Amino acid sequence: MKYIIGNWKMNLGIRESVALARGVIRITRGKEGLPEIIICPAFTALSEVKKTLAHSRVSLGAQNCGVEKSGAFTGEISAGMLLDAECKYALVGHSERRHIFGESNEIVRKRLEAMSKTKLIPVLCVGEPKSERDAGNEENYVTDQLKSALDGLSLNKKKPLFIAYEPVWAIGAKEPASIAEMINLQAFIRLVAKKITDLPDTSIKILYGGSVDSENAYSFLREGEVDGVLVGGASLSINKFEGIIKAASDVIVAQQ
Ligand code: PGA
Repeated sequence: MKYIIGNWKMNLGIRESVALARGVIRITRGKEGLPEIIICPAFTALSEVKKTLAHSRVSLGAQNCGVEKSGAFTGEISAGMLLDAECKYALVGHSERRHIFGESNEIVRKRLEAMSKTKLIPVLCVGEPKSERDAGNEENYVTDQLKSALDGLSLNKKKPLFIAYEPVWAIGAKEPASIAEMINLQAFIRLVAKKITDLPDTSIKILYGGSVDSENAYSFLREGEVDGVLVGGASLSINKFEGIIKAASDVIVAQQ
């Protein structure tokens, strides 16, 4: 199976989100061999988008997950609230949260801990900034992120753990990572995650994210070990998102 996650970031009001969600459903209607599709609208649009997705094959995800269950935590949305809004997935540790809003490895860990006690499926994002890549330090950097997020965390073996490798320098950039860079790091991440978590192979899903579009999606997705892609900008364009879904379907058929 391949997974396509659309991260809409801080874009689209409720009406526009519902319209885009309808477009995504239209793309999937009556098609065989589709990837699993997950869309992550802004918090304000979650419940209307959920209604739109009812009886479709598209799942709902959130862009972050609060640490505490409830209480005086202004601006936070808890895992329980996300489940109440019928989210199935939530991103955690996205590079924009880490680098723009200063979310540390420790906070990311706490968010994951909060999710691990619930049915929410986490999509942990990791990836090195340009300076670390230039210094040849990407593996150490990502290992620190993974260790701090996952070491000793009690994880449900039956629930998948998604890890998106998103090099910071490739997000919203002109160029994605090269296929070779992506293959090396995703294999490395899978190895480290397996060692740290002791999860069965099939529970760890590794995605690539960073300037994925309809032109390059096939090349990323055809790499056997890559479970899918996390898409930002291109997920806001129905034509580009359709191209990415089609690329995933073509890969699924080719690999059957
Ligand atoms: P991008 O964003 O596809 O626009 O590079 C990816 C992401 O931030 O998850």
